[in-house]
Amino acid sequence: MSIARLDIQHIRNLHAVSLTPSPHINILHGANGSGKTSVLEALHLLGLGRSFRTRNIRHLIEHQTGHCMVAADIDTLSSGNHQRLGIQKALGGDSLMRYAGNNIDLSTLAELLPLQVINADTFDLLEGSPQPRRQYIDWGVFHAESSFIQLWRGFKRALKQRNSLLKCGKIDPRMREVWDREFIRHAEQLTNQRAHYIELLKPEFETILASLLEGVRVEIGFRPGWDQKKSLDAVLAESFERDLRQGFTGYGPQRADLKVKADGHNAAERLSRGQKKLVVSALKLAQGSLFHRLSQRACIYLIDDLPSELDSHHCQTFCDFLAASNNQCFITCVDREALTGQWQPDTEISFFTVDNGTVE
Ligand SMILES: Nc1ncnc2c1ncn2[C@@H]1O[C@H](COP(=O)(O)OP(=O)(O)OP(=O)(O)O)[C@@H](O)[C@H]1O
Ligand SMILES: [Mg+2]
Repeated sequence: MSIARLDIQHIRNLHAVSLTPSPHINILHGANGSGKTSVLEALHLLGLGRSFRTRNIRHLIEHQTGHCMVAADIDTLSSGNHQRLGIQKALGGDSLMRYAGNNIDLSTLAELLPLQVINADTFDLLEGSPQPRRQYIDWGVFHAESSFIQLWRGFKRALKQRNSLLKCGKIDPRMREVWDREFIRHAEQLTNQRAHYIELLKPEFETILASLLEGVRVEIGFRPGWDQKKSLDAVLAESFERDLRQGFTGYGPQRADLKVKADGHNAAERLSRGQKKLVVSALKLAQGSLFHRLSQRACIYLIDDLPSELDSHHCQTFCDFLAASNNQCFITCVDREALTGQWQPDTEISFFTVDNGTVE
């Protein structure tokens, strides 16, 4: 899986940029504000239909312009056969996504271009609310289980219905039974898929973390969103009065979480900044490694400011891991020297200088 050519138009200060990346390691270096993160943002738009920096498309589109566009020649199965994938977004919110000459939807886009981002927001996997951790788990399940997206949509619908019944206060018991049954059926399947995925992920994570960070024992554990000693049926019945008072469903997969412990303590409280960076990076790299094992396809990694927070030894081990992996990586840094000496002579690597919205 790699991108052979990338074209970006009207994304922030990138007016019109084209590049031919290496299939393996790509380093984008340049001064603050030159547009490095914007290149990663453009790739993210192409893979997921949205930016990782803003929800408002107005901020992403170049000032004084009405739309933006990102397109790439991609080889999804590494078969040597490249097809054109493109996305165009307009200020008004209209978007158009195309692959090999056909219109496609968002989930097809995400399937075609499996992306992983490692940036300052990735610390949220340890420090943030449970939501980014649920998204993290669901990225993996989405790519591992073809039935996941249907199941997830069914669950969302059942949750929404149940919550709107709770909000209106007066509930017909037959309606409640119907939606509770829908909710439980989807919740149990979704939870089984998530739990199974985390079991597969654990050994990948442990191996990768051991190669990036020595001397700290980190464990991950899945929390499904309700007390597993009880059936979800019983939990919903017990918490019904409380749900009714609050107007929403308090237990279920919408409350699932991933616990990360370092030497037996909450990792967010225990670890240093650099150690946290290596742990969240190992979480992301483990997903890519498992994805490759399950599908024989590699991920594309977008790594913003790789050297920041890392000493030279840990920066080297991180680069060694990337060099040994199958992933195509787009890595940014301010000074080229910070990421020059880490690579072996046979590493396929391209350096790009980003300067005031141009990429050379
Ligand atoms: N909508 C927009 N239209 C035009 N330019 C924009 C827009 N939004 C942001 N910019 C400018 O585009 C540039 C984007 O920079 P970007 O964040 O990609 O820089 P960077 O190279 O990653 O810098 P740093 O090293 O500080 O992280 C900035 O100079 C910013 O002022
Ligand atoms: Mg940046």
